[in-house]
Amino acid sequence: MVRNAATRRNSFVYVVAALAALNGLLFGFDTGVISGAMLYIRRTFDMATILGYSVDPAYVEGVIVSGAMIGAMIGAAIGGRVADRLGRRRLILVGAVIFFVGSLIMAIAPTTEILIVGRIVDGIGVGFASVVGPLYISEIAPPKIRGSLVSLNQLTITSGILIAYLVNYAFSANGEWRWMLGLGMVPAAVLFVGMLFMPESPRWLYEQGRESDAREVLSKTRVESQVEDELREIKETIRTETGTLRDLFQPWVRPMLVVGIGLAVFQQVTGINTVMYYAPTILEATAFNDIASILATVGIGAVNVAMTVVAVLLIDRTGRRPLLLAGLGGMTVMLAILGIVFYLPGLSGALGWIAAGCLMLYVACFAIGLGPVFWLMISEIYPMEVRGTAMGVVTVLNWAGNLIVSLTFLGLVDAIGQSGTFWLYGLFSLFALVFCYQLVPETKGRSLEEIEADLRETAIGRGVDDDQAGPAKTDD
Ligand code: BGC
Repeated sequence: MVRNAATRRNSFVYVVAALAALNGLLFGFDTGVISGAMLYIRRTFDMATILGYSVDPAYVEGVIVSGAMIGAMIGAAIGGRVADRLGRRRLILVGAVIFFVGSLIMAIAPTTEILIVGRIVDGIGVGFASVVGPLYISEIAPPKIRGSLVSLNQLTITSGILIAYLVNYAFSANGEWRWMLGLGMVPAAVLFVGMLFMPESPRWLYEQGRESDAREVLSKTRVESQVEDELREIKETIRTETGTLRDLFQPWVRPMLVVGIGLAVFQQVTGINTVMYYAPTILEATAFNDIASILATVGIGAVNVAMTVVAVLLIDRTGRRPLLLAGLGGMTVMLAILGIVFYLPGLSGALGWIAAGCLMLYVACFAIGLGPVFWLMISEIYPMEVRGTAMGVVTVLNWAGNLIVSLTFLGLVDAIGQSGTFWLYGLFSLFALVFCYQLVPETKGRSLEEIEADLRETAIGRGVDDDQAGPAKTDD
């Protein structure tokens, strides 16, 4: 009986996490779908005019592609704060509606201008989703399996990318880009309906003074003996008011702000999205033809998913740091080799295959380390009072990095060649390795409250004033 009840609670937490991880699917689908759709959008609209003005079509294409990232930056900037104020669950619901509306606008867009509006709206939904997915799961998960559960969100990001590649392929025969983009409505609708039945984060509820609601959620997701302990821990850590942007710069939070920002920026400047967006273009420079390049791209998407599964299985056993460091080491080596391969003249035959193999291994190393670990760590390392706000800030920087790297990639290849570009990303990857080795803490198996207490103690150890180092403990 007792065992059955415990198993039921455990499965409920998996259901909640899996459903919330649909946030990642919206994110990934949006990332993967546009390159395929763009090929056909070009044929539908006159890309040389915007609002009656003549413009360079390449510029318009750039705006259509990057519109979603700009939207995502706006969404992440607002989303973190709103999640702290209105709650995690409500933000997921709003994000799903926005994403749904954005996909609908794109699917029926009669003009380029409206398509761009749809991309930005869609992006705002993605921005919300990218902050609140990991945040919500991390606050509802039991510490022992928190790594795996939060990483489900990265698994759905990678699955979303792969599904989008396959959708592009399926609709490419007739060039039906409206279907490609409109299909995003499906996961958004499932997420919205599913979330109506899911509970709010117990930690956020407690912070709002709703102790009995928090207890109720914990009793649905924990074995009975853990409920009161966890509630006590939350009670000891939480302040009643939510933090502001300024609170992120308090001396005791600052080190983790640096860690979050570093991880956010390194996750992008090591080049992952050049592969996600431009793999066929990269491979066409080798002896691969169009079809082989597209198939190899699907292969890369599949490796990304498969290795994320490995990360989900390992992350609570090995811990975050070993995966992060091993992944970064592998990425650095692969980028160095890719630079050499593209440096050699007459890239053909065997070298083409080596390049494709190295790209896959590079993606595999990202998928096991920096991919999931970034989103996981930023949901773990911040104190409750500023968690949403802090995640919002670092997520905006992650999207900004994404935007800059994807906009500069082709120009960079023109200027310093493919080999130079890979070496540059390799150099960033090496910096990232040193940065993570020195600064990123291990959070495996610890409750969010223990992580927060460690942060406070480290700060006190560094001589930061006791009352500046986080909330005063309340006695029971
Ligand atoms: C990154 C995305 C990237 C994806 C690839 C995510 O963790 O934030 O920018 O497209 O991984 O798997």
